[in-house]
Amino acid sequence: MYIGLDLGTSGLKGVLVDGDQRIVAETSAPLTVSRPHPGWSEQAPSDWIAAAESVMASLANLHSLSGVTAIGLSGQMHGAVCLDAEHQVLRPAILWNDTRAAEEAATLDADPTWRAISGNIVFPGFTAPKISWMQAHEPDLASRIATVLLPKDFLRFWLTGDMVSDVSDAAGTAWLDTGARAWSVELLRSGGLDTSAMPALVEGSAVSGHLSSSLARKWGLPDGVVVAGGGGDNAASAVGVGVVEPGTAFVSLGTSGVLFASTHEYSPDPGTSVHTFCHALPGLWCQMGVILAATDALSWFARLAGSEPAALTAELGQLQRPGETLFLPYLGGERTPHNDAAVRGAFTGLSHASDRSAVTRAVLEGVTFAFRDCYDALTATGTRIERLVAVGGGSRSRYWIECLATALGHEIEIPVDGDFGGAFGAARLAMMAAGGGGAELATMPPIANRVAPVAGMGPAFFDAQERYRATYRALKTVD
Ligand code: XUL
Repeated sequence: MYIGLDLGTSGLKGVLVDGDQRIVAETSAPLTVSRPHPGWSEQAPSDWIAAAESVMASLANLHSLSGVTAIGLSGQMHGAVCLDAEHQVLRPAILWNDTRAAEEAATLDADPTWRAISGNIVFPGFTAPKISWMQAHEPDLASRIATVLLPKDFLRFWLTGDMVSDVSDAAGTAWLDTGARAWSVELLRSGGLDTSAMPALVEGSAVSGHLSSSLARKWGLPDGVVVAGGGGDNAASAVGVGVVEPGTAFVSLGTSGVLFASTHEYSPDPGTSVHTFCHALPGLWCQMGVILAATDALSWFARLAGSEPAALTAELGQLQRPGETLFLPYLGGERTPHNDAAVRGAFTGLSHASDRSAVTRAVLEGVTFAFRDCYDALTATGTRIERLVAVGGGSRSRYWIECLATALGHEIEIPVDGDFGGAFGAARLAMMAAGGGGAELATMPPIANRVAPVAGMGPAFFDAQERYRATYRALKTVD
């Protein structure tokens, strides 16, 4: 049996999977984000450990873990966990959706070496500029940094005692030579660090270490449990939902929104805001467009409306043409395609007729238009999208998926009920690391529904998309 743990932003999820890839137990523990200043987003790494303790204890309650041979890890990307020489955490982790390091990112990005080696713009949310920000604003803490770990790799350190990352997650630091799948000594040096501050690197499906015997005893696992490299949450989700072959892609409606396509070659386009990272399987890469607030935007509105996201979407009937009310989901800035850390969200076209449902629809549409922007950015690089599968909590809303299919002009496939996200992908990577197989294990799940663009509505969505883009341009002129 195999365990997959996915350290998300709003919660940590664990699945127990048998040798036939059936989920036999699953559980999760919630996490909250602290936003001490506008644009900041932090979590205490100790909260991740507490969540992992609770998830492992409840998995052990649900099912005996004595047959587990491997654990895989998936996690929110880009976060900086800074440790001192005694392995103590120096400050709360600065997360992927934190935009405080915009200035530092622009400074690094102005040196063309970064894009040339890492294959990406240095985005404010990536790890390297966060360290530059610490060097500028917290020099005492920065001078004590001995190691920088990504969120899931901090969990791995606790589980195994080994400091290791995998190449899919490491690609989101900006310090990786993404084509060579290795740390770039040159980029690290130019960011004021050296390779001694970096964990060792493995592929997602390789062995990264073994579960400590004290934790194994605590949860009733045998000795010698393998911990796989795992992946950044998007690459791990791709393994979970079988997005491995070129031409396959997924749209993820989670806290962040991600359009992810698998590629066989490393073909970066660092002049654009498209991300090019290593996939979690050897010899594969991927391209992504990223939205900083997807279900996060709906959760924000649900809190304002004194409701729950699922209750709001359940109020909507058949797909409607976009109305007058328009929403820009840039609550904490924007990543693809504008790379704009300073922009903030907006509603326009509110009227006396804007009831709760109209505003909910505007929120879903706004995130949908942001996905269309990502789709155009990705396909403009030459990436093919033939099959598009939906994952993430938001994909349970039929309304949202119809909206997306219509705005993208592309059929969206909905897997059968079940969880094919990061935790399941991590369990598959665990199975591979334990010798249970290779990439062929990462099959697509059976498809329950194929949602086609809604007939006759494409032009209305296209017009609204243009209004959405014009509104962003107009917003840029307002200080
Ligand atoms: C990807 C990204 C997010 C995080 C959070 O670049 O920033 O998808 O991985 O899940």
